[in-house]
Amino acid sequence: MSVFRFTANLVFLMGSCNSCFDWASSFYDYSRAIPEKLMIKTIETLLKKVKIHSDSKILEIGVGTGRVAIPLSRKLKKDTIGMDISEKMLQNCRKKTISTDYLQLIVADGLFLPFSQNQFDIVLTCHVLHLLPNVFQFIEKMVPILVQQGYFINLEAYVNYHQTPPFEIYYGKLAEAGFHHNPRGDLVRRSLIIYLTKRGWNHIQYKIESEREISLNDLVRFIRDRVFSHQRAISDDFHQRSLKHLYNEIEKNNLDLSKKVLAPATSRCNIFQRSNDKA
Ligand SMILES: C[S@@+](CC[C@H](N)C(=O)[O-])C[C@H]1O[C@@H](n2cnc3c(N)ncnc32)[C@H](O)[C@@H]1O
Repeated sequence: MSVFRFTANLVFLMGSCNSCFDWASSFYDYSRAIPEKLMIKTIETLLKKVKIHSDSKILEIGVGTGRVAIPLSRKLKKDTIGMDISEKMLQNCRKKTISTDYLQLIVADGLFLPFSQNQFDIVLTCHVLHLLPNVFQFIEKMVPILVQQGYFINLEAYVNYHQTPPFEIYYGKLAEAGFHHNPRGDLVRRSLIIYLTKRGWNHIQYKIESEREISLNDLVRFIRDRVFSHQRAISDDFHQRSLKHLYNEIEKNNLDLSKKVLAPATSRCNIFQRSNDKA
């Protein structure tokens, strides 16, 4: 690890996002689970679209519990660095790795990258950019660590429960209050495409659709444990009231909570290749 420069004041520069993911780390994996086959297909498609050579270096920023980095580094059999601001998310990631894994984990803030210039062939983010206060500031800090012709990859992988009965009742209440599925994520993705393509970077994108089978019980647990007050416009209080509507509906219809339902799962990948660009 000696090649990576760590600044002494790193810990003091970290933002506030570490605490909410420290808290969410205990339920992150089950609540954000996407079907394994979707992640594998997403990674396989990705690897067909980017050029990787024998000494390619890969960094995932906001690696979390390793949903992407663990299967990616196993598939590539290449050293991969996973970086996150939350030590607890990394602890959970570490628990899932095995001794033969190629993944190295470090605690650092994506806005204060502790790496030297032209160090990585691939920099990856998955569900992180919408959490950053200013995505363009992040891009400006990230570009120098990427080699010319290197790739910046932004992934999003999620399951949409909004139309799954009886959960549409809960999401309907949220929609009445103006909450829709990750609008900031959509905005950030669109802005990123404009920003980097205007700069002359090559861009390709793809989307893969699948489904997740989940019991109503797990779905209730998922919705109950969602994090709202830290990142969303929805207050905890409103969340509780909307949940009550859901519980009433379950009781009224005497629903069997062990019943399994299918919900649509999607992954979106945007690949940007640094091209003739002076960082
Ligand atoms: C929604 S989770 C996504 C985790 C993982 N990429 C995945 O797809 O499962 C967002 C992750 O980004 C991390 N994060 C948020 N802000 C960050 C920052 N400024 N620098 C590094 N990591 C950050 C959080 O701690 C969290 O682990």
